[in-house]
Amino acid sequence: YTAEINLGDLDLGTYPYYMAKEIDEQPAVLRKIIQAYQNEQGQFELDKTIISSIENSDRIYIVACGTSYNAGWVGKQLLETIAHIPTEVHLASEFGYNMPILTKKPFFIFLSQSGETADSRQVLVKINAMGFPSLTLTNVAGSTLSREADFTLLLHAGPEIAVASTKAYTAQITVLTALSETIARENGVAGDGNMAHELGIVATGMERILSEKTAIEQLATDFLSTSRNAFYIGRGIDYYVVMEAALKLKEVSYVQTEGFAAGELKHGTIALIEENTPVIAIITNKATAGHTRGNVQEVSARGAHTLVIAMEGLEQQNDQIVLPEVHPLLTPLVSVVPTQLLAYYTSLHRGNDVDKPRNLAKSVTVE
Ligand code: G6P
Repeated sequence: YTAEINLGDLDLGTYPYYMAKEIDEQPAVLRKIIQAYQNEQGQFELDKTIISSIENSDRIYIVACGTSYNAGWVGKQLLETIAHIPTEVHLASEFGYNMPILTKKPFFIFLSQSGETADSRQVLVKINAMGFPSLTLTNVAGSTLSREADFTLLLHAGPEIAVASTKAYTAQITVLTALSETIARENGVAGDGNMAHELGIVATGMERILSEKTAIEQLATDFLSTSRNAFYIGRGIDYYVVMEAALKLKEVSYVQTEGFAAGELKHGTIALIEENTPVIAIITNKATAGHTRGNVQEVSARGAHTLVIAMEGLEQQNDQIVLPEVHPLLTPLVSVVPTQLLAYYTSLHRGNDVDKPRNLAKSVTVE
């Protein structure tokens, strides 16, 4: 195989850390994926053997760890809404040793930036022995999970060096969008517009957020520079993003952070809200915006320091971050960017080694 490494990719350039560089690369990565997977008509089209194997199955099981697992939840939303295929998401470290009852014709999707994660591999070994078909989405051609699965789709994100994953998360969601749309078309399910085109709009939207970095750096200082803990809240697709936002903040800044389904806060966790506890809400869904606003008010009334990230059209006057409007299923690709920047700047200002947080490894090859 030919590894997709271009030595220029490893150059930090003017960036102090790879994490900053990799956050900035995301619009270019999206455009690269659109190019790699679109046909001459500008529609997504993937290897027919992958699509027919999925068409022959009755359920998709996504298996992953860490940030890839969080991308899996957005993948579930995409596969179910666009392609109409029931999809479950599982932590690899749990799935292998506590396997749920599987359907008759399961299809497995492994999400792994490195393609080397041991927890994911032990599941692949088991399902290979059971004779079930599998696809690996990975950034590394020729990696173990790619070699041992039936099919591979590459993320085309270029080498990701920072331990905290950023561009691989958005690349995974983008490739899962291409996959969902291809399945939908092949199955004669109407699909949801032209996703290659919608993703182009997302790339431009990401650039707008990246151009507002200075304001986001200031918010990191105002909200997170001295706090010991923080909460992210959201509903639906925003809930999936807050799980990733919380992981990103805790792993690089060491601020203890939880990502919560906004409606669940009142069932216990709201007891932790004190004067000045940072609570960051993501609001991109019209149907639930009012409820999440209510939750913001509840915590604010108890002293929380609230920061709202809202999509254009749903924003209110005091919202600190307004996201460009994109297709409702693609909002994670824009809403995650300010959360990556908040994590990056908080880590930077606290003097941490941003690219190599303590106790963590880029690729974990032990179970
Ligand atoms: C490690 C990394 C995480 C990553 C996880 C899964 O824990 O520190 O950033 O999300 O492994 O890695 P993978 O390569 O399988 O996506």
